[in-house]
Amino acid sequence: MAVLITGGAGYIGSHTCVELLNAGKEIVVIDNFCNSSPKACDRVKEITGKDFPVIECDIRDGAKLREILAQYPIDSVIHFAGLKAVGESCVKPLEYYDNNIGGTVTLLEAMKEAGVKTIVFSSSATVYGEHNKVPFREDMPAGGTTNPYGTTKYFIEIILKDLCASDPEWSVSLLRYFNPIGAHESGKIGEAPNGIPNNLMPYIAQVAVGKREKLSVFGNDYDTPDGTGVRDYIHVVDLAKGHVAAVKRAETVKGCEIYNLGTGVGVSVLELVHAFEKATGVKIPYVIAPRRPGDIAYSYADASKALAVLGWKTEKNAEDACRDTWRWQKNNPNGYDD
Ligand code: NAD
Ligand code: UFG
Repeated sequence: MAVLITGGAGYIGSHTCVELLNAGKEIVVIDNFCNSSPKACDRVKEITGKDFPVIECDIRDGAKLREILAQYPIDSVIHFAGLKAVGESCVKPLEYYDNNIGGTVTLLEAMKEAGVKTIVFSSSATVYGEHNKVPFREDMPAGGTTNPYGTTKYFIEIILKDLCASDPEWSVSLLRYFNPIGAHESGKIGEAPNGIPNNLMPYIAQVAVGKREKLSVFGNDYDTPDGTGVRDYIHVVDLAKGHVAAVKRAETVKGCEIYNLGTGVGVSVLELVHAFEKATGVKIPYVIAPRRPGDIAYSYADASKALAVLGWKTEKNAEDACRDTWRWQKNNPNGYDD
């Protein structure tokens, strides 16, 4: 039997493919490559020495999904495919609702028809919104999202919960990621953002490699120890291993379960800059800039449920992630482009 990976050529998807293959799973990848390159899948094959089908398919194409579900012996789905840029989602909300929510509904309809009722979904810590207190726990109220991207994650969680309530045969894992950073230690796969990076770690990496002059630190007047925003940075390989644990559990337990995937440790912007400098020996020039609208002071996980139930916890720290990001960035200054 095989796991269907939607968005498997993307940043988190490609790392998860490696860990699933290493764990002895068969996989089938689908992606429309709107934010990724098929080369990422070639690199996954190089790293693992294993082959698997990679199919160009948009998750909004129900007919094609049905063909794929009929052709391969798929018994579960890990669903990464989606648009993820917070700022862009405010400018193009309909594209985000269509792609993320419309795409997920089309995928679920095709799965239901094929009798495949196990799904692991990429949710986000963003569903905790602005009003909960850290550390965020799975039983806190979700919602209060501040942008259409975050709202798509919140709505999809509700859709999946409703589906479980309607049919006890479904098995749904909602994985709330905190801030994924780092790259595979081979330096062959990593994060390859288009244009100017929105997120902190890829921005730091591009400053380090000389593509950008300096980092802008968005605000140093938050109520945090050094005034800069605090986040829970999780190494992408640890995150990928969390999916292996979640899919194994979902294969045997029905119903809807929610897990935070984070380290449980908060790290400030300046601490991450210093960790990068320490791990790589490269100086990161920065300036203090105004706060970025929509940012919160603190976001970090209570990660105890994933440990208790899935037996999963992070093994790598921020310095490991900085070292691995730097190896990937140096070897691939233009991402997957030659
Ligand atoms: P990514 O953009 O690298 O990967 C997403 C993949 O989905 C890409 O390969 C893209 O081409 C594909 N895709 C998008 N729309 C598609 C469609 N309609 N049909 C088929 N393929 C499509 O992003 P990522 O960082 O790997 O994120 C994976 C998932 O995790 C996303 O759902 C994202 O929202 C979620 N997530 C990411 C973060 C983060 O900080 N990276 C945090 C929380 C949640
Ligand atoms: N930051 C800077 N300068 C930059 C970029 C970011 O100072 O150039 C700061 C931000 O203000 C924030 C911290 O670095 O304090 C982290 O910012 P990111 O953009 O890397 O990450 P966010 O926490 O804002 O958001 C990320 C994902 C979202 C996801 C959220 C919660 O981008 O998709 O984590 O999981 F919803």
